[in-house]
Amino acid sequence: MADKKATVHIEGHDPIELPIYSGTAGQDVIDVRTLGAHGHFTYDPGFMSTGSCESSITYIDGGKGVLLHRGYPIEQLADNSNYIELCYLLLNGELPTAEQHAEFADEITRNTMLHEKIAVFFQGFRVDSHPMAMLCGVVGALSSFYHDDLDISDSEQRHRSAVRLIAKLPTIAAMAYKYNVGQPFVYPRNDLSYAENFLHMMFSVPAEEYKVNPILAKAMDKIFMLHADHEQNASTSTVRLAGSSGANPYACIAAGIASLWGPAHGGANEACLNMLEEIGSLDRIDEYVAKAKDKNDPFRLMGFGHRVYKNFDPRATVMRQTCHEVLKELNIKDPLLDVAMRLEQIALEDPYFIEKKLYPNVDFYSGIILKAIGIPTSMFTVIFAMSRTVGWISHWDEMLSQAGHKIGRPRQLYTGYAKRDYKATTQR
Ligand code: SDX
Repeated sequence: MADKKATVHIEGHDPIELPIYSGTAGQDVIDVRTLGAHGHFTYDPGFMSTGSCESSITYIDGGKGVLLHRGYPIEQLADNSNYIELCYLLLNGELPTAEQHAEFADEITRNTMLHEKIAVFFQGFRVDSHPMAMLCGVVGALSSFYHDDLDISDSEQRHRSAVRLIAKLPTIAAMAYKYNVGQPFVYPRNDLSYAENFLHMMFSVPAEEYKVNPILAKAMDKIFMLHADHEQNASTSTVRLAGSSGANPYACIAAGIASLWGPAHGGANEACLNMLEEIGSLDRIDEYVAKAKDKNDPFRLMGFGHRVYKNFDPRATVMRQTCHEVLKELNIKDPLLDVAMRLEQIALEDPYFIEKKLYPNVDFYSGIILKAIGIPTSMFTVIFAMSRTVGWISHWDEMLSQAGHKIGRPRQLYTGYAKRDYKATTQR
């Protein structure tokens, strides 16, 4: 694969030749694996310029606002596909035939129920527990229920755990919500689609028939699609690192959920809505934009900026359109949308944001849609985690199917004490 070379000249050392590989698209990579033998490590906190793996699942061009899943642009998938078809594509590399789609959809549907004992786990949580805390705990505990698919060297067993995780995450997520609001857990129904089933498990109550609004189900499905996968982001890299030690898939996905929770990552949608509510009205936007620009103020505009997208986030564009559709369909005049639209307009015109290439990201509009659907802010990142489970498990599966994959073990720049002898500081 190496068609070019990089030569590293280090004082007092012979030149070091490193192979350069080119992919289908994007930056070439310099293979630095032999550098350690020459007494040097690369140094890249935050992995700003580091490729951690070879992958063929998702490609992002941050400069052009491009997001491809197995080569298909996210905009085309969002307009023409659905989440279950996208799950098949991410897991298998190709779009399913009609028969494969039906078979996969049925496999997912028939795995949405949980062992009855899992419901007992929730009783150990405080009623006001954050649903992400419950999701982390219960998903990790799934490994105590499924012992028949923990041989990660067996692709069939890896597929089975992938199906179980994609199928069960919405059931667990809805249970966390029901536990928070003190309503009974709702069983999934096999006659509903993935998104319809999630809304049914979230909002139906024994006392009356719950009719799923097809517009909301379509918006939910689109939100699932827009969050499904995103290359080697923090939570996906967490899943890969956990999986590289041979940890079981349920533990790896629980690790991904934990990493996603942070406000700099998947927690941004919850933080963004809280920020919009704190700003509250159009006349306070300038005050908050000034705070965001003030180096001495830790405040950041949540939902803005991205490590990779230095142009628009294509998901935000689709999300914005969906946001208008949902609010129009529900005939909701949400003042927060006015604040969000004005904030976006100001930020896109402000020299600070232009210079730092800070554009609305996927989390900027999702919160407004979820709020319109009636989903509480605390559940926003839970929905992100549900959607991203297919991305996480696809990367986990890809890593384990690659020959010669190794446990991830970065090194460091050590700046602590040099060796020193122990001297007791107190008489003992
Ligand atoms: C997701 O990686 C992925 O793919 C993630 C994700 C996915 O699908 O998996 O896309 C999902 O996590 C989206 C991002 C959600 N996070 C937020 O909306 C939180 C707010 N955004 C930031 O915290 C920040 O923009 C990050 C974390 C998203 C990116 O951070 P970087 O790449 O490390 O950039 P940085 O923090 O070094 O910022 C560069 C500059 C800094 O100023 P200087 O030090 O150069 O003077 O831009 C400033 C920052 O202060 N800046 C912001 C800002 N984001 C960055 N200033 C104000 N408001 C912001 N939101």
